Amino acid sequence: MKKMENRKLAILLSGRGSNFIAIYDAIKRGDLEAEICCVISNIENAQGLNRAREFGLTSICLPSRGIEREEYDRMLVKTLRSYNPALICMAGFMRILSPEILKEYPSRILNIHPALLPSFPGLHAQRQALQYGVKISGCTVHLADAGVDTGPIVLQRAVEVMENDTEETLSARILEQEHQIYWRAIAQVLDKMQDEQDSKNILGFVRE
Ligand code: GRF
Repeated sequence: MKKMENRKLAILLSGRGSNFIAIYDAIKRGDLEAEICCVISNIENAQGLNRAREFGLTSICLPSRGIEREEYDRMLVKTLRSYNPALICMAGFMRILSPEILKEYPSRILNIHPALLPSFPGLHAQRQALQYGVKISGCTVHLADAGVDTGPIVLQRAVEVMENDTEETLSARILEQEHQIYWRAIAQVLDKMQDEQDSKNILGFVRE
């Protein structure tokens, strides 16, 4: 089947960047057919941004401190546009998106969250799960919308909560699964976009 031409990913991160590295590794291994066109961080010394530089990827710091949300997102959109990503992957990007960016990339922004949404959105999802006493938690990749960890779910993985789990041990087991599902979810969404494009081409419509 003819592959969709644009399989470029823009990565947005604020911290450690282990999910970004898992995506990068999946591409390197040939498991995910995609290309990282840029890595953008709102935090100057984010570990993930340093790794992106080491990998020789286009690495951009757009500091968000002191900038109003809409204005920041307008800057972000301007930067993103110049790299023409097919998909935007939030990988530990600690910001809520405004309509400025959502309207520019409808259904094209992914996020990963360390809980089985819609349970435990927001910060410290693993701590919330332990405090609630659930026996199963996990992780979710979903399309981002204007809410906090809301939007259509693409993939989930369940992780059993053990009797003696701490926030650290549970987080570590969930993170292993995050690294397994994010690139698979990206592949699914890119393939779906390609199918839509193919069917539009058949009908004589051309996607912009
Ligand atoms: C992950 O747990 C992710 O689910 C959440 O933020 C964390 C980012 O970790 N959104 P990393 O920076 O990818 O290592």
